[in-house]
Amino acid sequence: MSNKKNTSKNDNAAADPQGFRGGLTNYGDAGFSLFLRKAFIKGAGYTDSALDRPVIGIANTGSSYNPCHGNMPQLIEAVKRGIMLAGGLPMDFPTISIGESFAQPTSMYLRNLMSMDTEEMIRAQPMDAIVMIGGCDKTVPAQLMGAASAGLPSIQLITGAMLTGSHRGEVVGACTDCRRYWGRYRAEEIDTAEIDEVNNRLVASVGTCSVMGTASTMACIAEALGMTVPGGASPPAVTSDRMRVAEDTGAQAVRMALDGLTIDKILTPAAFRNAMVVLLAIGGSTNGIVHLAAIAGRMGIKIDLEELDLMGRNTPVLVDLKPSGQHYMEHFHAAGGMGTLLRELKPLLALDALTVTGRTLGEEIERVGAPFKQDVIRPMSKPIYPQGGIAYLKGNLAPGGAIIKQSAASPVLMEHEGRAVVFENLEDLALRIDNLDLDVKADDILVLKNIGPLGGPGMPEAGYIPIPKKLALQGVKDIVRISDGRMSGTAFGTIVLHVMPESALGGPLACVQNGDRIRLSVERRELSLLIEETEMAARLASLAKPRPSAERGYRKLFLQSVTQADQGVDFDFLQANPTKDSS
Ligand code: FES
Repeated sequence: MSNKKNTSKNDNAAADPQGFRGGLTNYGDAGFSLFLRKAFIKGAGYTDSALDRPVIGIANTGSSYNPCHGNMPQLIEAVKRGIMLAGGLPMDFPTISIGESFAQPTSMYLRNLMSMDTEEMIRAQPMDAIVMIGGCDKTVPAQLMGAASAGLPSIQLITGAMLTGSHRGEVVGACTDCRRYWGRYRAEEIDTAEIDEVNNRLVASVGTCSVMGTASTMACIAEALGMTVPGGASPPAVTSDRMRVAEDTGAQAVRMALDGLTIDKILTPAAFRNAMVVLLAIGGSTNGIVHLAAIAGRMGIKIDLEELDLMGRNTPVLVDLKPSGQHYMEHFHAAGGMGTLLRELKPLLALDALTVTGRTLGEEIERVGAPFKQDVIRPMSKPIYPQGGIAYLKGNLAPGGAIIKQSAASPVLMEHEGRAVVFENLEDLALRIDNLDLDVKADDILVLKNIGPLGGPGMPEAGYIPIPKKLALQGVKDIVRISDGRMSGTAFGTIVLHVMPESALGGPLACVQNGDRIRLSVERRELSLLIEETEMAARLASLAKPRPSAERGYRKLFLQSVTQADQGVDFDFLQANPTKDSS
């Protein structure tokens, strides 16, 4: 991991709280600017003594389109209480909110826009510290990216996971079970009446997905980075624990403002290393590595995927949560949450990394209560998977690399050679995947092109290619799948993702043809297209075309500026030291 100079930190991030006197609107007369500002805010009934307090902004991402943030009003009330108790003045304001299944073409397309909104509203409005409230997949990374660039004292509050539901006596939760039941429905193992019944059971309350999907992964990563109060990752959304975390977060934000504890003191290379260890040990979402790379990029830090892979060889998966294991987030919380996990991972962590409390991660681990009997967070001596959840692959099919979530893959398919069955894009996939005369066998390898950052666009979570109907009806539950896209953190299977360079940029994935042989070896970290070098060069030359573009608007900005997965799919001009994608 390398650390470049962070050129994006806000030089105005001061140790002395400025409150409403800070960041004045420019009328060419600072005295008048302050006079006018106070006059307007007094219209809302504020007194001079209230306006003299440190101002703590609260990024409010409540939205009817985002049930994962459905507890926002209660959280804001609790954060405000904490801020007031600690002597600050809370000021909440709206930003973009992204609900995973309510955004098209894909939520990832909008993550960078949300990060820009967050950054610019932090910069534009007077505040001495910022509490960011997020939860659904892209919201926490967007907020951390924006805050990293804005440079103020910043603290993340997670909305928290939903409760589990129950279907005919079985515990269920979004969204690993959504996929599992949908697979059973596709295979005609359950009927329409039952799938409708399941639809009412999967999401038992507001809050984020209840498994170790992307939202839970990012919650754990935020705590591992030192960006939440201790224990901030795991309390479910509708619990009193979650509200106490919110109150504590508000109070801590005031202390950070008074102490000048800016985000650059927390988001250091050591913090990112800790986050990588945790990502591996929780069997976290593959999206976590993309988001970590994006957040790190805002601090001028490069996440090295080779280093992640090496770390993975010594970091076992300890957390027994779906999709790698069997439990849910509420069980992780009951088992002691991140405190229990970090205590177990202590030998692998950089203990001197600073957290939002002003104490180091090592000091916070010392404050965790005594261990107790539980079966959700395993000891290092008894992991649920011997290596980290994510492996980094290379080969002539992915010269820039690719990843696989080995902890959620089928062991028998991790060393596999097979015949390619190719889908050129999502439309092609939708058209043919359910054809009962599709030429596909269980030992083939499905290849899906054009779902990368540019091809999607926005790198949709379509890498979890459905089992072709023909095979599903035969009872096939897994097949090797390869794409340049992402998959939901709640998904499972032998699925190679983030192939770089992506096919829309003319990467080797673009030249795979039906019937080609492909070799996957997770053991050797290999992903190879078994054709001659000259043949590949000829195919690539015949496919060469300009980078995708658009006429106007956000899509134009996106296609011009988006980077590949190893740079976090961030916009190049938002990184601390903008570097053009070399591919
Ligand atoms: Fe929001 Fe899963 S859909 S966290």
